[in-house]
Amino acid sequence: MTAKAELHYDGRTLELPVIEGSEKERAIDISALRKELGLITLDPGYVNTGSCRSAITFIDGEKGILRYRGYPIEQLAERSSFLEVAWLLLHGELPTTAELQSFKEDIRLHTMLHEDVKRFFGAFPKKAHPMAICAAVIGALSTFYQNFLDPNDEGQSNLSTHRLLAKVPTIAAYAFKHSIGQPFLYPRNDLDYASNFLHLMFATPCEEYEIDPVVAKALDLLLILHADHEQNCSTSTVRLVGSSQVNLFAAISSGVAALWGPLHGGANQAVIEMLQQIESEGLDGKRFLESCKDKDDTRRLMGFGHRVYKNFDPRAKIIKKACFEVLDRLGTKNKMLDIAVELEEVALQDDYFISRKLYPNVDFYSGIIYQAIGIPVNMFTVMFVLGRLPGWISQWKEMQGDASKRIGRPRQVYTGATERSYVPIDERG
Ligand code: CMC
Repeated sequence: MTAKAELHYDGRTLELPVIEGSEKERAIDISALRKELGLITLDPGYVNTGSCRSAITFIDGEKGILRYRGYPIEQLAERSSFLEVAWLLLHGELPTTAELQSFKEDIRLHTMLHEDVKRFFGAFPKKAHPMAICAAVIGALSTFYQNFLDPNDEGQSNLSTHRLLAKVPTIAAYAFKHSIGQPFLYPRNDLDYASNFLHLMFATPCEEYEIDPVVAKALDLLLILHADHEQNCSTSTVRLVGSSQVNLFAAISSGVAALWGPLHGGANQAVIEMLQQIESEGLDGKRFLESCKDKDDTRRLMGFGHRVYKNFDPRAKIIKKACFEVLDRLGTKNKMLDIAVELEEVALQDDYFISRKLYPNVDFYSGIIYQAIGIPVNMFTVMFVLGRLPGWISQWKEMQGDASKRIGRPRQVYTGATERSYVPIDERG
């Protein structure tokens, strides 16, 4: 028997079905609310709102659990690869050897950019933020694939998926190359996904560039950890924009824009900038934390806190461990890692952070690895884009295939002026 909730309002009672997910989390289905009672719900920041049913990613924020398609993130981080995880997210099951092989092949075939796309980069100022470039160029891909824009055509969507997964690393690396005035390299299709990206970023036509397998592995791990995170700000953006039936390139471009913000993907850049400031100004970690707690100070401890996790973000634990391993294997001493560890230790014993259940999130240590492997700070959020791409596409695909899909169109509680008459300008006081 379906459980029901009752809502009493204005002398009337409305029975609302309670929906249960596969992990027993419950939601009140309010779809009849406005029709039956003339009421809407008000939920700033959508803190209590489920926007869809999804079978892709499960998070238990209280227990610090993250699973893609049922597989714990810890197992995927240890045993899988980014492209295998991408397939898993897109198709719901782990691939067979033949499926993975052919998926890799499909992506490899599309890594080059159309030569005309390359010309866009030269038009951007050298100091342009690479997230702005990525959002613009990804959106512009739709102009090059005009016969592949129908979101309801599976063949077209599959091809656009392969193109995006293949070309976004090339776009990201070209944004960086443009900023430092180096020539764009062609992708190397003999390399794996992460290694090819490192080649595009750091090789030059003048000399041999040796890819460090430790670095490539760390990068692949970071991509896995960022691959999906259910209905976060950028993913919800991709779904909302996609619900208008716009093409996949446009929907993904909007996700990039949403991810750019410092409260979302931009936090990894903000964390390093915070650590750099503490280091360069010789600030005291404890005093710095005090300013993050001060209500009159807008500063926050970047890389701490999460809308969903009220416990350790499981990704942060994996990244912290990887951070020590990578720095150790590269033989690099990093003062910022010491500062981060100290901040974490102090924060985790501080009542302010304990009472608000603020723990390190995915961004707290990721920037330190990126920095150690040579990724410039303003490219950190772009790295997040590379990781999140299969998640966005999977969520978009799931939405397109949902028989109950409708254009996303929230309501509002209007608080402005009631009707009044226009006053000519010379009669206004
Ligand atoms: N430093 C200091 N205080 C904080 C922090 C922080 N990092 N995060 C939350 N708080 C406080 C906040 O001031 C509020 O206090 P009070 O109840 O006294 O008003 C309380 O904790 C609840 O915060 P909130 O802003 O209502 O929580 P939220 O769920 O709306 O925001 C968040 C979540 C991630 C935006 C927030 O924790 C934050 O700004 N963190 C720093 C930025 C960051 O690291 N973002 C990356 C998120 S993970 C990756 C991703 O999703 O992209």
